[in-house]
Amino acid sequence: MPAARAVEPVARPNFHHMQNITISIRGGKPLRGNVAISGAKNATLPELAAVCLSAETIEFLNVPLVEDVKVMHAALGEIGAQGEIGDNSIRVAMPVLRSPLVSLQTARTTRASVLLLGPLLARHGYAKVSFPGGCPIGERKINFHLQGLERMGAEIHAEDEYIVARCRRLKGIEYDFPGKTVTGTENLLMAATLAEGTTVLGNCALEPEVTDLIDLLKEMGADISGSGSETIVVRGQTGLHGASHRVIPDRIEAGTYLIAGCFAGNDIHVLGVEPEHLGSLLEILRGMGADITVSAREFHIKGGKSLAPAEVTTSPYPGFPTDLQAQLTTLLTQASGVSRVRETIFNDRFHHAGELNRLGAEIKIEGDTAVIKGQARLRGAALKTTDLRASAALVLGGLIAEGKTIIQNSYQLFRGYENMPDKLQKLGADIKIIQG
Ligand code: EPZ
Repeated sequence: MPAARAVEPVARPNFHHMQNITISIRGGKPLRGNVAISGAKNATLPELAAVCLSAETIEFLNVPLVEDVKVMHAALGEIGAQGEIGDNSIRVAMPVLRSPLVSLQTARTTRASVLLLGPLLARHGYAKVSFPGGCPIGERKINFHLQGLERMGAEIHAEDEYIVARCRRLKGIEYDFPGKTVTGTENLLMAATLAEGTTVLGNCALEPEVTDLIDLLKEMGADISGSGSETIVVRGQTGLHGASHRVIPDRIEAGTYLIAGCFAGNDIHVLGVEPEHLGSLLEILRGMGADITVSAREFHIKGGKSLAPAEVTTSPYPGFPTDLQAQLTTLLTQASGVSRVRETIFNDRFHHAGELNRLGAEIKIEGDTAVIKGQARLRGAALKTTDLRASAALVLGGLIAEGKTIIQNSYQLFRGYENMPDKLQKLGADIKIIQG
């Protein structure tokens, strides 16, 4: 791999202008045409953290230039990385660790900063990361991450708002995750690649983003077997080398547009997808009567007049993803009867329900389940969003509602969706950013 051209660390993106973003939508317009899906945010974030495992350049292609990715790249810059962001690409290397401190603001903006713990410990024996931020969707614990790293020999304690971790050299362990955790699996996987000896991880998350990270780590020279299964075996190496990696498509972005295509009158081709990553959503939408044609890397979805209600429960992959729960809830307000959506992954992920009710939906929360009355006539209103996927659900609501919908604090949308207003405008939606 050519050495990274010595360029300045990426300047911290200016989030202030993002904080007061407001989106305005005039609903009821039919959406027709093609939408190209970007690379997966939740694959890119752990893969950027993996850069800390080598001194050589990693080149990423098909990178979604969303805010969370820019924040993660900036975090790498703060601790010593050199690199540059290109046109949906990133070239970056961590020749030396300049500072083990991942700043408060960076870590506060995205939870993914916790993914730096494993790689920094593995390569440098030291890490200081602020307690994770990200979406306020219920308790976001990281005890499985810390338990595993401590078993590997790390000494971890809290210092003000930081997690401080130290170790001489991590040791391979046998560890079964007490519960499914996507970033927990990714953190320990990355730590294990440079640990002394072999690590066997049980009850691993099966999300495609975990598999894509393993593909990158193998391209960097890691010795990993069991990819795609719940038991992964990693044989520690003394070092990893550079690589070039194309990020998988974002299944949550694809699922969001697939759901939009189900609205009456819409006819959308969703391009550049991995259909098998969305098997659970396809099953639910087809069960509701949606007209979806699947080809190699494309969904063609034609919105029907009436869709049947559904009973849905979120679960770890390959089950129905919690990250599509809010978006599906918006669609279910238009079904021909009462639906029930049970959220089993996070304990507080129904913020979108109250806001959708301001549009005229009738959603009641009963414990961990949303009961959604169908055939709701939605009318534009002023809404506020709190987390990334709730903001997508509100945009979908605005596309259905008659009249004008305003969504404040839309910065959240830009954390995880690349150019969503542009992509929707190209499909015929009347959507614009009215304040920047
Ligand atoms: C990842 O978050 C995703 N983020 C989330 O996407 C996604 O919702 C989530 O996985 C579930 O699929 C990234 O990949 C960057 P978890 P993560 O650890 O890893 C509990 C989005 O919108 N748990 O799988 O933080 C935890 O409290 C974001 O793109 C522990 O108790 O989620 C939660 O209830 C939102 N202890 C459940 O497990 C731990 O140590 C699943 O969490 C870790 C997790």
